[in-house]
Amino acid sequence: MKKPGDFPKLSLGLYPTPCYPLEAVSARYGRDIWIKRDDLCGVALGGSKVRKLEYLLEEARRAGCDTVFTTGSAQSNHAALTAACAARLGMKCVLFLKGRGAAQERGNLLLDRLFGAEIRFVDTDRYAHIYDEMLALDEELSKQGRKCRAIPAGGSTPLGALGYVACAEEIAAQCDGAGRIVCAVGSGGTAAGLLLGAKLCLPGAGVAGVSVYPEAFEDIVPQLAEDAAALLDTPLVRTEGDLRIVRRIGDGYAVPNPEDAPYIEELARLEGILLDPVYTGKAWAGMMELLKAGELDGDGSIVFVHTGGAAALFAMDMPTA
Ligand SMILES: Cc1ncc(COP(=O)(O)O)c(C=O)c1O
Repeated sequence: MKKPGDFPKLSLGLYPTPCYPLEAVSARYGRDIWIKRDDLCGVALGGSKVRKLEYLLEEARRAGCDTVFTTGSAQSNHAALTAACAARLGMKCVLFLKGRGAAQERGNLLLDRLFGAEIRFVDTDRYAHIYDEMLALDEELSKQGRKCRAIPAGGSTPLGALGYVACAEEIAAQCDGAGRIVCAVGSGGTAAGLLLGAKLCLPGAGVAGVSVYPEAFEDIVPQLAEDAAALLDTPLVRTEGDLRIVRRIGDGYAVPNPEDAPYIEELARLEGILLDPVYTGKAWAGMMELLKAGELDGDGSIVFVHTGGAAALFAMDMPTA
């Protein structure tokens, strides 16, 4: 069997990220709750995408590419982190952004510009159309001698998901007795990597993914995990209850949910930790509601994976509790 470390990757983030118990929250809720701080990974404002990009950009670099494309919403964390990593590698970055979400030059859009990315707004919600536009630009730029690589939305490919297998390995070394790992789900790669990683190094631990986007992640996440397992030459052996997906979309993707505000404020005030209203705020609130409903009972600690996203706090109006 292979390991994530056997695949070529860049070293862009500062890993392992910290993982520690949230003492005040744990005392208040009578449950051992830890946090894995992937928001502190040291690139831009941090976040989960860097672990995936370390693999995906190395693949692009090895193929001789000097230009990367990616896509997402106007306030995409993935787009801003791709721009940051590309800047560090001296690559040109073109972002194809959907108008959805706050599109003023604040938050991640401001970061995209600071990192020198070219921004192209696309007038469609369908990824198929966006990939057609990428193809057209690829043809145009190849005539000028450039070599381009398109990174899929969210970086959620089997190779990218290996980054989260490595994150599970870190959790296993940092937290004795992790029983449940919780994360936000937007394109599925983070949860898929954690699911596979838990199988490999946290026996008995389950993954709870809180989805913030209306897609069938019950199917997408296990499929991605299986494809990532194939890269490692190992089967993904599923067990009952090893993955639970709960939806917490509210009024829509990238629309802050007023019901999350008390939870976001609580974590800020008890632990000094920021959550964003699009991903981690919804995920944390979803986790707290499962906890209150007794649905996270059982052995072992809960580990919340903080996947970043703070830039959105400065791009949209946050509801208050
Ligand atoms: C801050 C943040 N958290 C979580 C996610 C979801 O991760 P994934 O796309 O791997 O499901 C994203 C994806 O964009 C994100 O930006």
